Amino acid sequence: MKITVKENKLNFIRYPGGKQKILNYILPFLPSREEIRGNYIEPFLGSGAVFFAIDPKNAILADINRELIDLFHGIRAYPRDVWKIYKSFPQDKEGYYRIRNTKIENDDLAFKAAKLLYLNRTCFKGMWRQNSNGTFNVGYGGQSRRWVINEELLIKVSERLKNSVLLWSDFESVIDKSKEGDFIFLDPPYKPGGRELKHAHYAYQKFLFSDYQRLSNSLKKATHRKVNWAMTISSHQDIIELFKEYYIYLIPKGTGSSPGILRNNSGEVLICNYKMEVYNERFF
Ligand SMILES: C[S@@+](CC[C@H](N)C(=O)[O-])C[C@H]1O[C@@H](n2cnc3c(N)ncnc32)[C@H](O)[C@@H]1O
Repeated sequence: MKITVKENKLNFIRYPGGKQKILNYILPFLPSREEIRGNYIEPFLGSGAVFFAIDPKNAILADINRELIDLFHGIRAYPRDVWKIYKSFPQDKEGYYRIRNTKIENDDLAFKAAKLLYLNRTCFKGMWRQNSNGTFNVGYGGQSRRWVINEELLIKVSERLKNSVLLWSDFESVIDKSKEGDFIFLDPPYKPGGRELKHAHYAYQKFLFSDYQRLSNSLKKATHRKVNWAMTISSHQDIIELFKEYYIYLIPKGTGSSPGILRNNSGEVLICNYKMEVYNERFF
């Protein structure tokens, strides 16, 4: 039985381009918690929308954004402390910049996580962008999205992460370690040169065409090891060319170049290395 999206989704961070809004289109193509025999693996974690919706028994979650992985680590280990510190942060614009500029001298994981959570929930449009020193540099956005989360939600997030390995890593080594029985869900950045260059949403913008080629090679090896995977990706013809041997389905809606707004003709596809027995005609 498929687990319903509503019961499982846990939105604790804002992530433009995150998959929360299109879970209903993606989940019917993915295995359920019970169907995944090995690990659920998500090498481009972001906000983990698909991970939380599937709620797998065991997971390997990775992203190249170190601060993001620290945030997940901090909430998993200290949800109550993170909430206490988060609550204490200022309510105004000046306060936002003061916290943004606070240097964290020691390795205080709870403070680090609370600071990032606060910046994420009060910065402009939930963007996640760093300057060349790796410092978060998004401007102030307001307090309206700050109190839609609460301590209970952070505790739930922490519990859900208990059986997950969290890795600060490039995708390739994560995919290369997968074994038969594992399932990989992938949501890499869009092809640079298109909307991704115009809209600086992600921390690590430079996802080059050579990275898509690395991804394609790594997924080919995983397919030979009989690992099942599914990926949401731009329908740009150069990308489709790299994955044309697999099953490609059009995702009818997406946030496209307007984060937060669901549009028709997303320009995104779902590519799987397995055939869908139950084809969802209503989506296409
Ligand atoms: C489209 S977002 C994932 C969004 C996620 N599916 C969600 O629902 O929130 C792509 C993610 O890939 C990460 N990323 C970019 N380059 C990477 C790389 N070489 N290896 C691993 N992660 C990378 C970014 O930091 C970003 O979090």
